[in-house]
Amino acid sequence: MKILSFETSCDETAVAVTEDGRRILSDAIASQAPVHALYGGVVPEIASRAHTEAIASLTAQALRDAACTRSDIDAVAVTYAPGLIGALLVGVSFAKSMALALGVPLIPVHHLRGHIAANYLAFPELEPPFLALTVSGGNTLIVDVESYTRMKILGGTRDDAAGECFDKAARVLGLPYPGGKPIDELARESSGGVYKLPVAHVDGAPLDMSFSGLKTAVVNLAHHAEQTGEALDRGALARDFIAAVSATLVPRVMEAAKLTGRRILCAAGGVAANSFIRRDLQDACEREGIRLYLPPLKLCGDNGAMIGAQAYYEYQAGHIADMSLNAYATREITRDWSPETP
Ligand code: KG4
Repeated sequence: MKILSFETSCDETAVAVTEDGRRILSDAIASQAPVHALYGGVVPEIASRAHTEAIASLTAQALRDAACTRSDIDAVAVTYAPGLIGALLVGVSFAKSMALALGVPLIPVHHLRGHIAANYLAFPELEPPFLALTVSGGNTLIVDVESYTRMKILGGTRDDAAGECFDKAARVLGLPYPGGKPIDELARESSGGVYKLPVAHVDGAPLDMSFSGLKTAVVNLAHHAEQTGEALDRGALARDFIAAVSATLVPRVMEAAKLTGRRILCAAGGVAANSFIRRDLQDACEREGIRLYLPPLKLCGDNGAMIGAQAYYEYQAGHIADMSLNAYATREITRDWSPETP
């Protein structure tokens, strides 16, 4: 089954063709990051406009790269939640018209389910059940993936997402947006151990997390150094910051494995590209005898292929939309799309 899939939830316009949820035939991406970098973060209006400008030519490119014509496409899939509402609406509207024109089913896909499904593209043997650590720009969740379409949230952030925290820390360190990759590179210049940063615990919720205190601590350190003229060891701060994020994520996901008895863990989302967090996960999983799947870097960030991968399984579960499909800025990963309760 060949699926043409669209992803426009934030600042990446992405269109892909995938086969049977496991094979990438094409994966075209137009990143808007350089435009938003001028403002230090994503400007929603600009994102919607840029999606509108890019989506038609990117669709032609995705079909061309996959050596497909429109008549080869069996279904159309689209990210319908969560994300920037205006940005999501561009993808949803375009996908609806495409499905209508081609006379094929329209499959709505939850963005975070897509991130998890990126693992199906990289690892053909992987099947649920497993645990997923989903860490992106807007969300941070530990998910029990019971089946391809049945998920349970075990823990998550109570405030900022890990990616948001990376972007803010990078900004005060004078690094460009999005800050995850530059801060990862800067941290390699130091072995850290200079700055003591907080790792928060949520009372009574051992798998929940909080990143706002860490974010504030990094901002305060940078501002204090600026005001007093004190030298800031930027490399060490980057390294210590990542260590604090990792110390928040890794023990919790290991605890989740212990509580559920799951022996397989997948990482997902942009922050899963972080080299230090990847290494810490590897070390912890090795120690605990857990099988770890780390998607290749290009499948960690937003892409269209991951939406096509999840769509294959949503289709099999009967989650097919009609032309009344809408976009939603927020939506639980646990909630299925259905025509009765859209
Ligand atoms: O998954 P993603 O591409 O978009 C969302 O669905 O949100 O994640 C984007 C986030 C950004 O906050 C970016 O700074 C972060 O992923 N990121 C990283 C790295 N590469 C991207 N964070 C830490 N280390 C990285 N190497």
